[in-house]
Amino acid sequence: MTLAGKRILLILSGGIAAYKGLDLIRRLRERGASVRPVMTAGAQQFVTPLAVGALAASHVYTDLFSREDEQDVGHIRLARDCDLVLIAPATADLMAKMATGLADDLASAVLLATDRPVLAAPAMNPRMWSNPATRRNHLTLSGDGIRFVGPMRGEMAESGEAGEGRMAEPMEIVAAVEALLAGPSARPLAGRHAIVTSGPTHEPIDPVRYIANRSSGKQGHAIAAALAGLGARVTLVSGPVTIADPPGVAVVRVERAVEMRDAVLAALPADIAVMVAAVADWRVADMAGGKIKKRPGETPPPLALTENPDILKTVGHHPERPRLVIGFAAETDDVVANGRAKLERKGADYIVANDVSPETGIMGGDRTEVTVIGRNGEEHWPAMGKDEMARRLAGLVAGVFDGT
Ligand code: CTP
Repeated sequence: MTLAGKRILLILSGGIAAYKGLDLIRRLRERGASVRPVMTAGAQQFVTPLAVGALAASHVYTDLFSREDEQDVGHIRLARDCDLVLIAPATADLMAKMATGLADDLASAVLLATDRPVLAAPAMNPRMWSNPATRRNHLTLSGDGIRFVGPMRGEMAESGEAGEGRMAEPMEIVAAVEALLAGPSARPLAGRHAIVTSGPTHEPIDPVRYIANRSSGKQGHAIAAALAGLGARVTLVSGPVTIADPPGVAVVRVERAVEMRDAVLAALPADIAVMVAAVADWRVADMAGGKIKKRPGETPPPLALTENPDILKTVGHHPERPRLVIGFAAETDDVVANGRAKLERKGADYIVANDVSPETGIMGGDRTEVTVIGRNGEEHWPAMGKDEMARRLAGLVAGVFDGT
C-alpha cells in the first residue's frame, strides 16, 4: 500500500488515452490511494462518468457551474483537498490552457486554483506534441513546476502513426506518482535547478552538410532523468538525438554549439550544471549560404574551421556559476591526467572521465566505466549501465547538497 491515505485528484481530458485512465484509477486504488475524478467535456466523449465514478467509487466532477457540485465541495476546495493533482491524459489543449492560465471549465479552473503538486501525463498525436506551440507550453509548464511523465514513443491508437505522443502506461504513471509523493528523503534535490547538456552538436558546412560526432545522448539523458528522479527541476539542453525525452524534464533542442551555449546561459540561474554533451570543438568558419557544388577538374574545397565556445568553461567561470559544475572528459589516452587538467582549465568541481577508445564501446553503447575526478581526489567506478551510472552521479550531487 505505497499510496495508503493519499488523496489524488485525477483530471481526465479528452483523448482516446482516457480509456487507460480507467486502469490507472484501479492501480492507484489498489495501492491505497483515494481518487476523486474530474472530467472535461472532451473526456466524456471517450469514457463515461458512470464508468469512471464506479471504478473510483467517487462522485465525478464535470461542471464548473453545477450548483450541486459547487455546494458539495466547490472548485477551490476540490483543487486543494488532495495531495496531488494528476492529469491523465493531458491533451495539447489543456496544456495550452494551463500555460496561459485560462480557466473556462472545471478542469482548467481547478488547475489554476490548486496549490498542490501537479503531475501531467500528456497524450496526443506526435505532430501535436512536436508542434512549436506545444514545445513552448511544455517548457513554460515545466518552469512553473508542473511535473511530466511521458509521453512515450509508439504507435498511436487512433491513427497508427508512430512517434512520440503516446500516454505513459498506467504503471509508469503510478511510479511517477509514488516518486512525487515520497517523503523529502526520497527527493533530496527538491527545489534545486539543474542544467544538463546532452548529445552531439551538428555544425553546418552548407545547408545540406554538417560535421557531427557519435554521441547518442544516452548518458546525458539518463543523468537528466536521475536528477529529476531525486526531485530537481531539470532543464535538458540536447543536441540532435534519436532517443526519447526523459520523463519529468524540460527539453530544449538545439543543433549547433553556439545555440547550445545560448540555451544554457538562458537557463541560468541554476544550482547544478552537468555538461555531458559532446560539443564540437570547431565549426566551419564561413558556412556556405548555398550547397557547395562539385565541379569537374576542381580541387576539393578546403574546410576552414574556427573554435566553438567552450560551454563548460563559460559556465565554470560565469558570474552566475552554479554551485556545482560537473564536466565530462572523453579521452583515449592518459584518461585521469587529462581529466584533471580539464577540471582546472574549465573551472569544474568534478570531471567524469571515460575512456572512449573504440574497443571500449562506450560511445553510443549502453554501458560505461568512469573515473570521477574531484578537487581532492578521484574514484574509479566499475563498468555499469549508463542508467546506473546516472543514478550514482545523481547520488553524488545529492550528497553535495545534503543538509544545506
Ligand atoms: N565542452 C563544452 N563545450 C565545448 C567543448 C566541450 O561544454 N565547446 C564540455 C563537454 O560537455 C565536456 C567537457 O567540456 O563536459 C570536456 O569535453 P572534451 O571535448 O573532452 O574536452 P576538450 O575541451 O575538447 O579538450 P580536448 O579536445 O583536449 O580533449
